[in-house]
Amino acid sequence: MDNKKVFFISGVAGFLGSHLADRLIELNHKVIGCDNLIGGYEDNIPDKVEFHNVDCNNFEQMSLIMKNVDIVYHCAATAYEGLSVFSPHIITQNIVTASTGIITASISNNVKRFIMCSSMARYGTNPVPFTEDMTAKPQDPYGIGKLASEDILRCLADVHGMEWVIAVPHNIIGVRQKYDDPYRNVASIFINLMLQNKQPYIYGDGNQKRCFSFISDDIDPLIEMAFNNNCVKEIINIGPDDEFITINELAETIAKILNFDLNIQYTQGRPQEVTFANCSADKARQLFDYNPKVKLEEGLKEMIQWIKKRGIKEFKYHLDLEIKNNKTPKTWSKKLF
Ligand SMILES: NC(=O)c1ccc[n+]([C@@H]2O[C@H](COP(=O)([O-])OP(=O)(O)OC[C@H]3O[C@@H](n4cnc5c(N)ncnc54)[C@H](O)[C@@H]3O)[C@@H](O)[C@H]2O)c1
Repeated sequence: MDNKKVFFISGVAGFLGSHLADRLIELNHKVIGCDNLIGGYEDNIPDKVEFHNVDCNNFEQMSLIMKNVDIVYHCAATAYEGLSVFSPHIITQNIVTASTGIITASISNNVKRFIMCSSMARYGTNPVPFTEDMTAKPQDPYGIGKLASEDILRCLADVHGMEWVIAVPHNIIGVRQKYDDPYRNVASIFINLMLQNKQPYIYGDGNQKRCFSFISDDIDPLIEMAFNNNCVKEIINIGPDDEFITINELAETIAKILNFDLNIQYTQGRPQEVTFANCSADKARQLFDYNPKVKLEEGLKEMIQWIKKRGIKEFKYHLDLEIKNNKTPKTWSKKLF
């Protein structure tokens, strides 16, 4: 293949990063990647990836491993929205400072295009469905950090002539997603708990609504962002805008598949959690005929099979709570999972 490119993926041991690596390798591109293993699973990393256990905050190391890279996917992040009001220091370090590290290393290595994974958290309290032209109104350090990272990317890339694309994925689920992390990934947490015969906890009344999408539906649009010139300097939502369901319904759907006798434990709502959050997929439909095919139940069944095969796991409280007070969810302060 003469249009073989060198890709760099940060967060390649993570959920999105490892699936992107698989597809790029399938397409015969070279993939270099880094991860500091604060999240993800090391065995997610596809064999053919040239892997470096390097933190995006380590600018000198990043500059060295990014030689001759054409296109970057920046997937590395501590993607912990709810936790970000309780552990803001570690979370923003791995979002804002880490993004600045990899953006700078990319520019200094003459990278052609930089694709940043932002988050729906950037839209905050806007009315749903969120469209890309809305003024961002993030409500927590995670969303604020994502928006700051976008701003730094736009500024530096425009000054130094690097193409940029901002992908806004939302509520993607699927195999390889961390399921022993008590701080994030609601569907995976519910499955891991129910498979251990434990009741799930829900923050607030469970009527928060989200749209989940399955990873296999979201890789193609992300790959297009590397090649399609209509994506340059664009913010693009990635995720479906149908099957908008409550967290209660999500728990009920998983319980039904597992034939689990559900008795949800309701607990205090998390500060700054947005009640209704979903994105319009109109722009993705226009740009890439985005048409997700996997229905929620089907995707959940695949995740259940994968978690069963890999084995249920104890939850690991691997990040410290920097702020502990009466607002801190007791699921975390008392390690209830
Ligand atoms: N999965 C989703 O639904 C979703 C939704 C919105 C946004 N995103 C964004 O997409 C990206 C990928 O998400 P994911 O679900 O794959 O998360 P993930 O946690 O599975 O993967 C992120 C990876 O980044 C690594 N990492 C964190 N900080 C790092 C650092 N400083 N240096 C190097 N590696 C570091 C972690 O170890 C982890 O393996 C993130 O930026 C996230 O904010 C994901």
